[in-house]
Amino acid sequence: MNSYATPVRVGVAGATGYAGVELLRCLARHPGAAIAAAMGSPGSSPRRLPALARLWDAPVDALDVDALAASTDAVFLALPDTASAEIAPALVARGRRVFDLSGAFRLRDAEQRKRWYPHTPEPPAHVVYGLTERYREALADSPLVACAGCYPTAAILALQPLVSAGFVDGPIIIDAKSGVSGAGKTPTERTHFSECHGSLSAYGVFAHRHAAEIEQELGVPVTFVPHLVPIDRGFLETIYVTLPAGRSAADVAAAFEGAYASSPFVRITGHDLPEIKHVAHTNFCDIGWRVNDATRQLVLISCIDNLVKGAAGQAVQNFNVAFGFDERLGLN
Ligand SMILES: NC(=O)c1ccc[n+]([C@@H]2O[C@H](COP(=O)([O-])OP(=O)(O)OC[C@H]3O[C@@H](n4cnc5c(N)ncnc54)[C@H](OP(=O)(O)O)[C@@H]3O)[C@@H](O)[C@H]2O)c1
Repeated sequence: MNSYATPVRVGVAGATGYAGVELLRCLARHPGAAIAAAMGSPGSSPRRLPALARLWDAPVDALDVDALAASTDAVFLALPDTASAEIAPALVARGRRVFDLSGAFRLRDAEQRKRWYPHTPEPPAHVVYGLTERYREALADSPLVACAGCYPTAAILALQPLVSAGFVDGPIIIDAKSGVSGAGKTPTERTHFSECHGSLSAYGVFAHRHAAEIEQELGVPVTFVPHLVPIDRGFLETIYVTLPAGRSAADVAAAFEGAYASSPFVRITGHDLPEIKHVAHTNFCDIGWRVNDATRQLVLISCIDNLVKGAAGQAVQNFNVAFGFDERLGLN
């Protein structure tokens, strides 16, 4: 275990975005990390972050990749995927360990990557998909951690133990609801207040890149339908599957308890169904379910805070494992 006698010098690029501010909030209270650089977009004026006053008071500077590499050991990229696609390999080439929150390097299949992230170059060697609970051991040696996406985190944590155990018979349907911060801080016609307040809409049906990420990790097809709901943060996914004959709610409970016995941020709530308010501002993923014994239908509910377990918190959790810290540092 890392004793944090010498703090790891960390940098955050995209520090003025929703995920970037959450990263700074976690890293400012992390005993093993020293924030050495925080940067916004190229050419931007220095800014302070009022939400972090007295937690972290330094200015955020314009992006300067040379300065970022020179002052840090590890870098968190909370950037648009096109910017990460360019910057992550440059930092890795200079020996920095990179935790990328974008999707640029998450897809291992070259065709899928080209389809969903056309700006991404050939990835550096040993990229690890950054879902901590699934890839703990691989994180230790990875120069580039492609942190899991927000929707995929909630879906994969809920489904992977069941798929691995052979407890899914037939199609998987993921009905997902996202708070508006999932789309980042720049409003669009779909996400600005007067469009989404008082409404609820489906989008990206059969056309969302997170479906490819979920299928990559589960190894089976899914029907994934995201919805935008008028709350600021939090994701709730309602997942419909059918259990094979002879399987019951007790088998489902045993699969989850076995899978997450050593995972401090997965809370198995069983019959008590999770709610966004229970996970907001935390790094927890809550998973609950109900089974209809007559029809063998299983309905799973999986909830996260998209900016914490779905983004910054997960990245810090990956950083903790990668650098040999207690997985919970900066996250409690
Ligand atoms: N929001 C979520 O729930 C969530 C969850 C998981 C993963 N992610 C991923 O995390 C990344 C950041 O998301 P976000 O929601 O925090 O976005 P955001 O709120 O839009 O923030 C984007 C950040 O990137 C900077 N930036 C914009 N264009 C840039 C460029 N061309 N080069 C360098 N910096 C640039 C912005 O700086 P300025 O302030 O100077 O413009 C800002 O600091 C994205 O890849 C996103 O897909 C987000």
